[in-house]
Amino acid sequence: MIYCLSDPHGGECSGALTKYLEEAGDSDLLIILGDLGLKFRDTEENRAFDDMILSAKKKIAFIDGNHENFDFLETFPIGERYGAPVRILSENVVWLQRGYIYEIDGKSFFAFGGCKSSEKWKPMGLWWPQEEPTEEQLACAYTSLKAYGNKVDYILTHKCEQGIDTTETTGLRKLCDYINENVDYKMWYAGHWHKYKKDGEKLLFVYDVPVPIG
Ligand SMILES: [Fe+2]
Repeated sequence: MIYCLSDPHGGECSGALTKYLEEAGDSDLLIILGDLGLKFRDTEENRAFDDMILSAKKKIAFIDGNHENFDFLETFPIGERYGAPVRILSENVVWLQRGYIYEIDGKSFFAFGGCKSSEKWKPMGLWWPQEEPTEEQLACAYTSLKAYGNKVDYILTHKCEQGIDTTETTGLRKLCDYINENVDYKMWYAGHWHKYKKDGEKLLFVYDVPVPIG
């Protein structure tokens, strides 16, 4: 089975994730939709969370959110998993890269992490410029989608940018609009808002509790 959840934030919202890692089967895969929060805060809680994720015995794939220590994540080597580039954090944990389509159990997953944070995070020192997509990552997204004939099984984003708040991520907004208008998909899973909410027939916002994909 493939599950997804979002926004564990370095252990602040990870109760159900901890339970999942104890109970999941070896062939299950958990996809985390961003704000994983590895080495984000210099706290005991965050360090314990880092250890739990980096030593996980169950399979985890994640996209990045806006609250990530990107400098830390980028120290991990690039490899290939599920037919596209990933950063390999451990034998079981991989970071899905923005703009690629991954083939998992016969299904195609378009992945695109990141988005812009509100300004309050910069003075706290908890902000990295890599949170926003680059032109190259956006170009990769359009190229990948077109290579699939604009048809994939699932869309995975941290933020589904709908232009409803003051920190709109412009390039992401255009990409989300493009997907809405041009891409044939079964279901779109997104995090970011820290709530579980179905928006129409094909968009599901998830939070800290695992939800089966499909
Ligand atoms: Fe979050």
